[in-house]
Amino acid sequence: MEILKEVYSIFALNAVLFTKFNLKLIGLPVRISYRIFIQYILGIDIPDTTVIGKNFNVFHGQGLVINNTVVIGDNVTVRHNTTIGNARPNGGCPVIGNNVEIGANCVLIGEIKVGNNSIIAAGSVVIKDVPENVVVAGNPAKIVKTFNS
Ligand SMILES: CC(C)(COP(=O)(O)OP(=O)(O)OC[C@H]1O[C@@H](n2cnc3c(N)ncnc32)[C@H](O)[C@@H]1OP(=O)(O)O)[C@@H](O)C(=O)NCCC(=O)NCCS
Repeated sequence: MEILKEVYSIFALNAVLFTKFNLKLIGLPVRISYRIFIQYILGIDIPDTTVIGKNFNVFHGQGLVINNTVVIGDNVTVRHNTTIGNARPNGGCPVIGNNVEIGANCVLIGEIKVGNNSIIAAGSVVIKDVPENVVVAGNPAKIVKTFNS
């Protein structure tokens, strides 16, 4: 996934050029190739306008869907078959803090906050805020462990 990270960062940078500085001549072909490569070939649906912090890790990635209004902090890891988005059409989306790890097969939906340094266990369905420094698991996800901060 290192290659994917590099490719993603190049495309993300170009998306910033496109959206923030309106460099359409550079941005448009890059956005089109981003869609073809990331969405259709790799099967990862992360719009290039999603706000994502530094050191974003995608492990495996297949079946990963993230809404464009989701906000993701620094050092966040996501895995395959995970959805992060709204609970209803046009509803609010999660805001994910820093150093958050999200296991495979998770669903995080609605206008919720996931606190820094927390872990979402594999297979969790998260529909309420997650505090900092905890592990949540299950459907609906509940706190199963608290770390000393
Ligand atoms: C959450 C996780 C990181 C373990 O964290 P941990 O801090 O070591 O937690 P523990 O193993 O001590 O488990 C704490 C409690 O949560 C439960 N738990 C852990 N993972 C769980 C899961 N995915 N679903 C439900 N409960 C889970 C444990 O059974 C334990 O419950 P208990 O206290 O009643 O015995 C790990 O289980 C996990 O889900 N990792 C995701 C990694 C992943 O997706 N891997 C895929 C590789 S491709």
